[in-house]
Amino acid sequence: MNDLRTNGQRISLRLFGGPILEVDGEPVRLSSYQACLLSVVYGHGRDGISRSRVIDFLWNEMDGQKQRHRLSQLIYGLKRKAGADVILALPLDRLASCSADVACDLVSFHEHVEKQRLIEASSILGRPFLPLVDPAPTHEFDRWATSLPLTLRSTAAKRALALAAKAKQDNDWPRVARVTEAALALDPESEATLRQLMHALSMAGRQREALAVFDTFSANENAGSRREVDSETSALRDRIQRTADDQPFGPLIGRGKPAQDARMYGRDDELAGILCHITGGASHGLTLHLISGEAGMGKTRLVSEVLQRARLQEFEVLTANCSELEQAIPLNAVLDCLRGPRVKEVVRGLNDPWRAVMLSLLPEFREEGEPDVQPPYVRPGSVPRRLYEAIQMVVSELTSEQPMIMAIDNFQWADETSVSVLEFMTRRWRSGSLVLILSYRSTTHGDERAAIRFLRAQESSQEAIRTHLEELPRIPSLELVQELTSEQGIDDGVTEDLAVLGCGNPFFLIELTQEHLAGRLERPRGPEVPNLPVSVRQVITERLRALQPAALELLATLAVLGREARLSMLATLTDQTASHLLD
Ligand SMILES: Nc1ncnc2c1ncn2[C@@H]1O[C@H](COP(=O)(O)OP(=O)(O)O)[C@@H](O)[C@H]1O
Ligand SMILES: [Mg+2]
Repeated sequence: MNDLRTNGQRISLRLFGGPILEVDGEPVRLSSYQACLLSVVYGHGRDGISRSRVIDFLWNEMDGQKQRHRLSQLIYGLKRKAGADVILALPLDRLASCSADVACDLVSFHEHVEKQRLIEASSILGRPFLPLVDPAPTHEFDRWATSLPLTLRSTAAKRALALAAKAKQDNDWPRVARVTEAALALDPESEATLRQLMHALSMAGRQREALAVFDTFSANENAGSRREVDSETSALRDRIQRTADDQPFGPLIGRGKPAQDARMYGRDDELAGILCHITGGASHGLTLHLISGEAGMGKTRLVSEVLQRARLQEFEVLTANCSELEQAIPLNAVLDCLRGPRVKEVVRGLNDPWRAVMLSLLPEFREEGEPDVQPPYVRPGSVPRRLYEAIQMVVSELTSEQPMIMAIDNFQWADETSVSVLEFMTRRWRSGSLVLILSYRSTTHGDERAAIRFLRAQESSQEAIRTHLEELPRIPSLELVQELTSEQGIDDGVTEDLAVLGCGNPFFLIELTQEHLAGRLERPRGPEVPNLPVSVRQVITERLRALQPAALELLATLAVLGREARLSMLATLTDQTASHLLD
């Protein structure tokens, strides 16, 4: 009886799939009346049940005196068979279970619910209640035995949903998913619970599982056909499918598994923190999020995960990805954001002259036969007022019905003109809810381009919400390497070495692991520096190029320490702050 917590008790009673009474692991043969008596008494909990009620459950005839006598005989007979009291006679003519000496699955169920172990609780309810009582001795018994498991289910399911609601407030989506899973197991026909589970799994980054849960639910017993579901449920399914397939910034770097299939490790706090601000934020005004970190630290990935979840929460999402080569193109970043059918509709709905200005910048929104409009002359960095107004109008209109996120990745390469548009917007925004997410490589001193100046100013302002991605800790690094090598299976020692060598940088970790699996990286142990993959070397070389004289000392220290240098240790050794070292 693995779902029965026998706290050292020799006697156990199983009502689900029973009643079965066991003493020292051996089943006791019961008469059908003994079985029914045990069921009724143990089914009524600690407070017990009066003898006269028990009689109503067991016998239809009305000879009170005779039945009281039969009841006493049954109790005595049970005591003999079990070798101990299994039913207690309480004052006021009541009978009760002997919970100190008898382990009972129904008691365990209540304990599980009490202690919030809802998955265990639901597994107890997986078996039918009292199937061995057949036929039921009375109509009264039958009614009770039919309704009790339903009541238990719904009580536990309500409890699970209450816990889920609490976890939702904390943005703890993995927990929401766990308890909702239990709620659905308890109440498998509830489509509202199914939707909540699908939503929670997706918010926890498990879209594939969310889709699988839907498939299981809608699969019909009759092979081939599908069960009808509410339109709300199928709409949610489609939304999850879209976000699961969606990579807002294009394919992520790295040659690991497709990003949407590999889990994101060690960023739960950052993710929950950002989501908490976004979804719990004000419905008006502009919020600025700054996501910084070194190359490969997972900025793009983190923002993608945020955006997927925001889409599920009905946010409109616009994205752009800046690149070094395109930073000379005026307005490149902002115009990149303004794509898609919704934007087109809004632009076409503007009045002139703003409509003409926008159409000149976004010629793909022109209808056939519409005359070509000369774009206004844009001097890099300076924005003609009309143009600013037009962009502001479009974005305001977009936020009028739905909260919106504009996410710009690699903002360190944003063109000067886009920067001034955003500068304007952050100062003058008066419209609906707009979340601006800018992700960028940690700013370098001495770089005076407009984007960097803007970021530096925002970093020191009170208003912006900052998330700086540090190295992944050891455990998530190991988990990432383990996931990547799960099919081939490698030594724990090698896993450990790869995790150390990757220095907590997910990109390094993925690349090094892939190299190792391809046989291009020796077992990365020993004093000599291993052959680093080209991609990793590129990132490192780029960083070395940018180093300041102050970093020479750091570099020397690094060389002495070899691969095991940790940032905090370096900071101590070179007498600098960790964030300074990262710059
Ligand atoms: N926390 C993480 N867990 C697992 N993989 C990650 C994590 N963060 C990033 N990755 C993966 O590492 C690679 C580099 O991440 P990316 O977001 O492109 O870095 P960045 O934008 O900071 O340069 C990508 O393949 C990404 O999917
Ligand atoms: Mg990136």
